Amino acid sequence: MSARELDVLTVPVELGDRSYRILIGHGILASFGRVLTETVPGATGALVVADENTAEQYGRSVVSTVAACGLRAELARVPAGERAKRLEQAHLLYERLYRLGADRRTVVVAVGGGVVGDLAGFVAATFARGLPFVQVPTTLLAQVDASVGGKTAVNFEAPDGLVVKNLIGAFYQPALVYIDVATLKTLPHREYRSGLAEVVKYGVILDEEFFGTVEQKVAGLLERDAEALALVIARCCEIKAQVVQADEREQTGYRAILNLGHTFAHAIEALTEDYLHGEAVAIGMVAAARTAELLGLTPRETRERLTSLLRALDLPAQFPPLDITRVLQAMRRDKKAIGGRLRLVLPVRIGEVRVVEEVPEEVAAEAIRLSR
Ligand SMILES: NC(=O)c1ccc[n+]([C@@H]2O[C@H](COP(=O)([O-])OP(=O)(O)OC[C@H]3O[C@@H](n4cnc5c(N)ncnc54)[C@H](O)[C@@H]3O)[C@@H](O)[C@H]2O)c1
Ligand SMILES: [Zn+2]
Repeated sequence: MSARELDVLTVPVELGDRSYRILIGHGILASFGRVLTETVPGATGALVVADENTAEQYGRSVVSTVAACGLRAELARVPAGERAKRLEQAHLLYERLYRLGADRRTVVVAVGGGVVGDLAGFVAATFARGLPFVQVPTTLLAQVDASVGGKTAVNFEAPDGLVVKNLIGAFYQPALVYIDVATLKTLPHREYRSGLAEVVKYGVILDEEFFGTVEQKVAGLLERDAEALALVIARCCEIKAQVVQADEREQTGYRAILNLGHTFAHAIEALTEDYLHGEAVAIGMVAAARTAELLGLTPRETRERLTSLLRALDLPAQFPPLDITRVLQAMRRDKKAIGGRLRLVLPVRIGEVRVVEEVPEEVAAEAIRLSR
């Protein structure tokens, strides 16, 4: 990663009185306290939430820069991984806030991946009916996806033992998203490339030119070059912001285009633990392109170009050898399915997708078969 100073890029998210800025830079964590006090004037304290992998390296720096600006700041550590997204963990954070004597001048700051962001955001949304919330995402997936858009949640452990993802949650916009691409240098390779799948997704759903940019920047991205990352992350945030601005609370259906590849991916994730989310999304996007091809919606070139880019980024594109009946069953359970027929986001070309309401299951099955 190049050490030279880069400009800080700003992406505005326009949502009326819930508008906020996304700032993207390299090595900008040290200035966080100042930006926080400018963004949330009157803030007197902060609870900085981080997980086992982000607390020491990034959580502590955030606490010191916030404290240096005169705020009372404390670090709260949660376990790493999906198991932290539980009501019990939320409760522990409520206790911390209570002991801090938190009120609406207390900011909740999430320093970590999507898990920390979703959990801390949910706590911020619900404690005292809402505390100011700031995201400092440290995974690529959180920087281009989870930290933008205002969805917060914990998973629900149902009485039958089933864990339902993101069932308990709230739409709650942050006051600021602060992205330091330097934090990505410690991210494990698989986690990093998992985020790259979501990057590719933005190109496929809305921006062919950006897809071309990613194709050109493959080498820089694989080296985690700061300049390439800042540009690419900023464009992803712009695209996500654009979609969220058009359909903030998932009411018009437009926001669904962000789910390209996700119905296939959720089925893969439900049936095997061999894939990270982004890896499953990569495979799912190829299966979606194949489905679109079988329906005559898109030429073969769409899938070929998508597959080459995913492979160049070291992402999987081949469907795992899972039982297709079980895959379809899991896809049906996905909330995007209506009455036996599948509702899928399918590419028309690179840069444009369509939500197809009634995809026959046989076509999806054939697409999976051909993608193996
Ligand atoms: N709110 C949304 O709109 C939205 C969108 C997409 C995903 N999500 C949620 O996000 C979660 C997945 O997010 P994720 O992929 O970031 O997973 P994660 O938060 O579990 O992070 C992945 C791993 O990387 C570690 N880590 C984080 N930053 C690091 C760094 N800089 N260096 C080294 N290790 C680091 C974490 O401790 C964890 O072990 C899921 O729970 C998903 O539901 C939410
Ligand atoms: Zn995703």
